[in-house]
Amino acid sequence: MGSPTAAVQELTEVQAVEALQEARTRTLALVVSVSDADLERVHSPLMSPLVWDLGHIAAFEDLWLVHRYGGRPLLRDDLADVYDAFETPRAGRGELPLLRPDQARAYLAEVRERTLDMIAERGVGDGTVHEMVLRHEHQHDETMLQTLVLARLQDYELDGRRRSLLDAGPPHTGLELIEIPAGECVIGAPSFGFAYDNERPRHRTDVRRYLIGRTPVTNATYLTFVEGGGYERREWWSDEGWAWKEEYDITRPGGWTADLGAEWRLGELEPLHPHRPVVHLSWFEADAFARAHDARLPTEFEWEKAATWDQESGSARPFPWGAEPPVPGVHANLDHLGCGTATAGAHPAGASPYGCLGMIGDVWEWTSSDFRGYPGFVAHPYREYSEVFFGSDYKVLRGGSWATRARVATSTFRNWDFPARRQIFSGLRIAKDVTR
Ligand SMILES: [Fe+2]
Repeated sequence: MGSPTAAVQELTEVQAVEALQEARTRTLALVVSVSDADLERVHSPLMSPLVWDLGHIAAFEDLWLVHRYGGRPLLRDDLADVYDAFETPRAGRGELPLLRPDQARAYLAEVRERTLDMIAERGVGDGTVHEMVLRHEHQHDETMLQTLVLARLQDYELDGRRRSLLDAGPPHTGLELIEIPAGECVIGAPSFGFAYDNERPRHRTDVRRYLIGRTPVTNATYLTFVEGGGYERREWWSDEGWAWKEEYDITRPGGWTADLGAEWRLGELEPLHPHRPVVHLSWFEADAFARAHDARLPTEFEWEKAATWDQESGSARPFPWGAEPPVPGVHANLDHLGCGTATAGAHPAGASPYGCLGMIGDVWEWTSSDFRGYPGFVAHPYREYSEVFFGSDYKVLRGGSWATRARVATSTFRNWDFPARRQIFSGLRIAKDVTR
């Protein structure tokens, strides 16, 4: 660690402890109603068993906060490889000698004791390592929620959150477009505060005039695409997308039922809500939908400009709505609110300066961009965080989803996945060139 650009100014010892404890409370709440058998089951070949995530959260915290930051030996050296995400790809994690659920919970608690001792003894330094470990746990919560949705657990409960859904006023479709004028903008995270290596360095770029959706594309709009032959019209699909669709016989978004009348959300099958953003789309599907509408996916720079650029002041806002950190339910649908997407446009207080809605929260939005380092990229704090994924294999997603914790959901955060993947809470917002 120790990069001069990574200092976190505000994270005091007390705040670090509170935030770590709050993160843990949420992690444990996610699995409190899940049986041991379901914690240990491989629900999808794409996902780890949930019990692996629990052990991995503990192992990562022990490695970074107790061992590397605190200089103490690992609590469980013997588990280091089993819970190393890089050593053990997801597909094989079901066969590993994992801790049992009660052992994994005990491991989490024991490591946390060591962390709290270490904070009492050595403080939090500049806070960077503690912030990284905290966000790591938040991000695994979202991964676990993906698994929980794929598991189709009918009796799943998450402390009464299910009923707190929000509704917008007049319905949006996702097809209404906003014009963004040509001109320079600023991309990436500033050099102060916490950010991941791939968000830096901040740089200026020129973006041509373009149009972008006011909101993400909704279920009703996507349904029209499906019923209009969206999965049958070869001309709307890329070669790779068509091959993927044919091989896996894909005919609808990941969570939809065959009759197109309902979708799987967290622990329940619900009638398809027409005005919620469509979710569980692969990049291939998002791309085909856009082509069918004589549109395209935005580049990630177009996405970020539409989300943050304030033309009047000539500066990028930290969040679409300003500098205030996200208040879930006010600015955006984040933090597991309602256990699923809200209706598109339900948070007018979260509008960007150009008037785009829902840039943060609800669904991750696919962009047309490959995942690459910004000019002048420097790996930090380890190569395996970003750099090893750079190239044309992965596409970038932006904006966070309903399952993203507010602390993680910044407008410069870059998520990435293979174009065929749709276990994530992924949707789309269209863009278009201005032709007139
Ligand atoms: Fe991890």
